[in-house]
Amino acid sequence: MSLSRPIFQRALLAQSLARDVAGESFVDYSSGLFLAAPRRTGKSTFLNNDFIPECERRGWLAVYVDLWADRDTDPAELISGAIGTALGLFENSLSKAAKKAGIEKISLLRTLSWDFSKPRLPAGTTLAKALEVLHSVAGKMIVLIIDEAQHALNSESGLNAMFALKAARDHLNRGRGPDGVRLVFTGSSRDKLANLVLKSKQPFFGANITAFPLLGHDFVEFVTDLWNQRLAATNQFNVEDLEYAFQLVGRRPEMLNQLLTEVSVGRGEASNLGELLRTGALNHQAGIWSDYESACNDLSALQRAVLNVIAERTISKQPFAPFSEQTFAQVNRTLELAHADPNASTPNVQKALDALRDKELVWKANRGEYALEDSAMAEWLTRAGVSG
Ligand SMILES: Nc1ncnc2c1ncn2[C@@H]1O[C@H](COP(=O)(O)OP(=O)(O)OP(=O)(O)O)[C@@H](O)[C@H]1O
Ligand SMILES: [Mg+2]
Repeated sequence: MSLSRPIFQRALLAQSLARDVAGESFVDYSSGLFLAAPRRTGKSTFLNNDFIPECERRGWLAVYVDLWADRDTDPAELISGAIGTALGLFENSLSKAAKKAGIEKISLLRTLSWDFSKPRLPAGTTLAKALEVLHSVAGKMIVLIIDEAQHALNSESGLNAMFALKAARDHLNRGRGPDGVRLVFTGSSRDKLANLVLKSKQPFFGANITAFPLLGHDFVEFVTDLWNQRLAATNQFNVEDLEYAFQLVGRRPEMLNQLLTEVSVGRGEASNLGELLRTGALNHQAGIWSDYESACNDLSALQRAVLNVIAERTISKQPFAPFSEQTFAQVNRTLELAHADPNASTPNVQKALDALRDKELVWKANRGEYALEDSAMAEWLTRAGVSG
């Protein structure tokens, strides 16, 4: 059965986040709204489908950039490219209307003197300058949305772009009251995103990371209806079974659809769709866990212990300080439980971390912070305990 996949609208969430951005809610998001949710849970869809339209409804200019869209391009370039594209759009519409109202704004745009046909800022133009011009030309509040923002941490220039954005935002908001620039960041790893806000040397120190709300029960009802419309009246899914399955697949729409397809295709006459769906979801989870198992199979005792300590920190939302006494003690305790030599030290923990990075289990930010590559693994690691 091939299904077109209608998008479930999340207008209330969009309105509520827009209120946060506007400073109309209790929490102060003036230093940036940081939204984290696991991979494939609907962040980008929400931004493009619900949040950007809501920004536009409020008369703001939304500029969207996905730092993962092109992994070979420097995040700094992607950000200035998005601003360049937005400026280019104004150049187009303003030149058409130049005789009427645009002349002043056109000359403002020309102060940047570059080729508007390219989505790129001219050499020597700072992000701050470009944002300032965009703000004046647009004459509205700008909401710069950076999707998968944690990728900026992979390079020094990406990180510098973040500092530049912060400076530009502070500059533009100074003296302009609340209508300057707002920054919205999303990321698929809370830990990675945290690297932008946790330490005083980081660009958005002090900002909070908000858990981006995953798709809820209303989405499950929406999907249930959708599927049932296409199935015989005697052969329907029920919403509790979908809810159960959706939860086990980490509230990922694609995985749920895949299970629904598997279950409904070819077995259309079975009266136990619900049971098949639940079993399918359990198998899915078992599959992921066995992937984790094999990824961890050939780790040394020390590597496994270090990985476990990172996982425990992830679960307790504490930063992982690789070479602290506390970390060594915890690694040693874990090693002892696994009947291995408790030999944690700076050089061998460093070596273990390097090996874990090579295996893409652990991720290191440009400034030396470590995090799990797949934070969903933390639950499995701490549940399974250390098997050495
Ligand atoms: N509101 C929704 N209604 C229907 N399907 C959705 C909805 N949100 C997301 N999806 C589907 O879920 C999948 C993942 O969505 P999306 O790419 O937005 O997630 P993401 O969190 O940005 O993923 P990534 O971590 O890869 O960036 C897509 O196939 C999308 O069509
Ligand atoms: Mg995305």
